[in-house]
Amino acid sequence: MKKINVGLLGLGTVGSGVVKIIKDHQDKLMHLIGCPVEVTKILVKDIEKARQVVVDKNYLTKDVYEVIRDPEVDVVIEVMGGIEETKDFLLEALQNKKHVVTANKDLMAVYGSELLSVATENGCDLFYEASVAGGIPILRGLVDGLASDRINKLMGIVNGTTNFILTKMSKYGSPYDEVLKEAQDLGYAEADPTADVEGLDAARKMAILSRLGFSMNVDLEDVSVKGISSVTAEDINYSKRLGYTMKLIGVAQRQGEKVEVSVQPTLLPDYHPLASVNDEYNAVYVYGEAVGETMFYGPGAGSLPTATAVVSDLVGVMKNMRLGVNGNSAVAPQFDKNLKLPEE
Ligand code: NAP
Ligand code: HSE
Repeated sequence: MKKINVGLLGLGTVGSGVVKIIKDHQDKLMHLIGCPVEVTKILVKDIEKARQVVVDKNYLTKDVYEVIRDPEVDVVIEVMGGIEETKDFLLEALQNKKHVVTANKDLMAVYGSELLSVATENGCDLFYEASVAGGIPILRGLVDGLASDRINKLMGIVNGTTNFILTKMSKYGSPYDEVLKEAQDLGYAEADPTADVEGLDAARKMAILSRLGFSMNVDLEDVSVKGISSVTAEDINYSKRLGYTMKLIGVAQRQGEKVEVSVQPTLLPDYHPLASVNDEYNAVYVYGEAVGETMFYGPGAGSLPTATAVVSDLVGVMKNMRLGVNGNSAVAPQFDKNLKLPEE
């Protein structure tokens, strides 16, 4: 197979990690896919900005069409964020027969269905493992690893920023604003952290998880959401004295032919496995009929953990290219509103 050219939309926290992993793990990638892979075009806002990784400046562009319309680009990796405009860019990339990998849960939670349909129509892969729980391979875990089981409930810590804040407030009594700033400096928080602290980021991830776990569409408007911005140090201290740990918990539960999804600050007894998930770490607790209870745990945000998921998706795309089976993605079933669950 020829060299695979990657067009990267964004060179921030996640994009820098993607460039680093592709460079550092070139031997492993060669071994897995049998050809070299190179990032050849990179979209940024500011060409002159200092970067966390060394890149050839000639590859940088401020014009998205130089990436998504470049006939030499095989795969577009979207790590720029945003919803409406970004959706249009990815739709065009797919129509131009580029495979797409994205870490963008905001986009996938709102327009996942449409994007996946267009990917299939164009024989392209659209993978989004990094959109939920950073470095934890939870989407493949649900779709492949637990394919044979019937999942009845998902419960998780799926936002690294809020878990980092609650952990530092609880362990060290750090003030909320100070820890939020630290989470931003470490690259865990979104560009506008409102979605993190108000629970919307977690709600979007729970919607994506629910669609994959229960094969049902979940509208974001149906998810009840409460964030942590009003949680006080007193709340946390009081719950600690009673033997509880405060976490921002997402729950998705099968209710007949529906799934109920909520995100809210929750007091967990200290012995619960999710109570000991600290800092920016995430965990998803899965209740399967056959497997019983199982927990996926790992770093939920940050440059390299998230980039690992992105580059693993890239490997998936390239393996499919070699086999000639793109567009039939196992990790991207259609979100079909009318899909009926098997009888209870
Ligand atoms: P970030 O650090 O803010 O980086 C965004 C990058 O995109 C920057 O390089 C920026 O260019 C570029 N960019 C944004 N809008 C652009 C535009 N309109 N035109 C050209 N370039 C543009 O963001 P991030 O933390 O890497 O997150 C990227 C995506 O990954 C988001 O969807 C986020 O939700 C998702 N994600 C992030 C994490 C994490 O831990 N950070 C984890 C999982 C998923 P400049 O550098 O020139 O400003
Ligand atoms: N802002 C997100 C978080 C990044 O804190 O979990 C990972 O999706």
